[in-house]
Amino acid sequence: MRALATIDRAALAHNLERVRALASGREVYAAIKADGYGHGAATVANALSGVDGFAVSSLDEAMQLRWSGLTQPIMMLSQPLDAGACALAAEHDVRPVIFDRTHLEALADHVGPALSVWIKLDSGMHRLGFAPDEAAAIEARLRDMRHVRRVGWLTHLGCADDPSSPMTKRQLAAFAHATAELDGQRSIANSAGVLAWPAAHADVVRPGIMLYGSSPMADASAADHDLRPVMHLSAPIISRRRVMAGEPIGYGATWRAPEDMEVGVIGIGYGDGYPRHAPSGTPVLVRGTRAALVGRVSMDMITVDLRSVPEACVGERVTLWGPGLPADEIAGAAGTIAYELFCRLTSRVSIEIV
Ligand SMILES: Cc1ncc(COP(=O)(O)O)c(C=O)c1O
Repeated sequence: MRALATIDRAALAHNLERVRALASGREVYAAIKADGYGHGAATVANALSGVDGFAVSSLDEAMQLRWSGLTQPIMMLSQPLDAGACALAAEHDVRPVIFDRTHLEALADHVGPALSVWIKLDSGMHRLGFAPDEAAAIEARLRDMRHVRRVGWLTHLGCADDPSSPMTKRQLAAFAHATAELDGQRSIANSAGVLAWPAAHADVVRPGIMLYGSSPMADASAADHDLRPVMHLSAPIISRRRVMAGEPIGYGATWRAPEDMEVGVIGIGYGDGYPRHAPSGTPVLVRGTRAALVGRVSMDMITVDLRSVPEACVGERVTLWGPGLPADEIAGAAGTIAYELFCRLTSRVSIEIV
């Protein structure tokens, strides 16, 4: 077997407990869009079956959860709404977040089973949502729609990963002011909001990345927050070779052996989703010891300096990220974030659930 992502359900359950401890008494909607951040949406949803709801991006993602037998409310974050989407969402109790005037037209035409909606306000991130001063007018329009039910108010934080950001305070104040006189639940916090901004916990929290065991925070690791990695990505050593001092390794000859040395060739590359921009020096765990990636990442392979683990053999598996080697660290080396590493694993990677 080549690259393998092992998904640890107990780690998911542990991370959910961390959310519950931090945001005690609040409803938890687990963000499992993009196929559960690359971990398998149904697997994650089943392992987190104690949550109060799920947050997904689209109707397709929501329907996959319904087909997998999940019955909790589903918040649908960024689906364009037309008559067909409204009808299907209402039939399956999928609750769209409305954030654009076109949604109001589609909702006004909706007949049939009542459709529950969240209203998104743009408190300062300026991506999606109605202006805060439109909140009362939107609510009044929805009140006239017989087949639409309003669940509550939602906003999203743009800088919650920075505990010193003045923007988060401004966003919280703008949202509180806009919704002060309005009924319904409130939902603000993503993972960073759960971890660093108790004032953002409101009624419903929407954590994603922390459930998968990564830290969204600029200044703290997952371990600092007692989060456990859910994904263990491993791949086998497919060859071992001796490279002589001064000889190059891989495409572009970007790295040369400083001395005669053993190099392991690992069966994973960017064709599997390992980041092509991971530079020489990026750590790989071999027998629990850190070894350094050397040379460029190619489609099917990477090469690793085995001087720190000379006993490593062809056939044994090494860890690309997971327990002992945080995905956040690999993402940092490759100039990206763990979210992207997880989402970009390709269908070549086998999934094993433990
Ligand atoms: C609206 C919304 N809420 C919650 C989340 C979960 O965010 P995180 O994974 O940072 O916890 C996201 C993810 O992008 C989102 O877009």
